[in-house]
Amino acid sequence: MTYSNRIESDKSPIIKADNVRFGWSSEALLLDGCSLQVPSGEFWMLLGNNGSGKSTLLRLLAGLLIPDAGSIVMPYKTGFVFQNPDHQLVMPTVGADIAFGLVSENLSQVQVRQRVKEALDAVNLLDLERRPIHALSGGQKQRIAIAGAIARNCQAILFDEPTALLDPDTQLELVAQVKNLVENRGLTALWVTHRLEELDYCDGAFLLEGGKVVAQGDPQSLKEKLLATERS
Ligand SMILES: Nc1ncnc2c1ncn2[C@@H]1O[C@H](COP(=O)(O)OP(=O)(O)OP(=O)(O)O)[C@@H](O)[C@H]1O
Ligand SMILES: [Mg+2]
Repeated sequence: MTYSNRIESDKSPIIKADNVRFGWSSEALLLDGCSLQVPSGEFWMLLGNNGSGKSTLLRLLAGLLIPDAGSIVMPYKTGFVFQNPDHQLVMPTVGADIAFGLVSENLSQVQVRQRVKEALDAVNLLDLERRPIHALSGGQKQRIAIAGAIARNCQAILFDEPTALLDPDTQLELVAQVKNLVENRGLTALWVTHRLEELDYCDGAFLLEGGKVVAQGDPQSLKEKLLATERS
């Protein structure tokens, strides 16, 4: 079922899975014939029941897993933001953590500082550069993880339920900020969520069911369909 033809837009996809097949064991396939494309510069969400394979699909897109068949096309540097930021922020302070992500780029100290400052500015947390990670709120930690991807010049960012541990106000602040970053910086984002209210912020959405994307397009249509399913 396709809710709109947005996916047919002439913008080339930055995040693309084509007929992906994957199973954790040879007996049972989790994904089969799974395809999706996120057009460049857009913010899309991925929904599906617990255990439907959303996190697995994100790990395939990030290159952390290899599909058994089909292809993943991610032409640009890609960032990943996890549900629990404590699993990804590894250094003692904000500035050191973002700088740590730049180690492989062999930049000068001045360049590293510039990248760190610019990335913190992008998420409106410039004043937290020297703050210990443990002294941040959950929402601030997620914004630091996003700043890490921006500092690395990632064009695409994959988010795996980044608001699951946040209170409702912080949740909506974070999703609104990512919407702004996508619009203002030309990023492309794919965001996994169970929270239907977040669909108000995205350009399009996918529903994963039975190992493949079974619906895609207009987020409001998908929201109504899922609300109707919840009510029935
Ligand atoms: N490392 C692993 N080894 C074996 N099986 C796994 C592994 N990771 C996930 N699975 C299984 O794959 C299936 C899909 O898991 P996945 O985490 O991708 O689902 P999900 O849609 O993200 O679920 P949720 O909404 O609960 O986050 C589940 O049955 C899960 O138990
Ligand atoms: Mg998951």
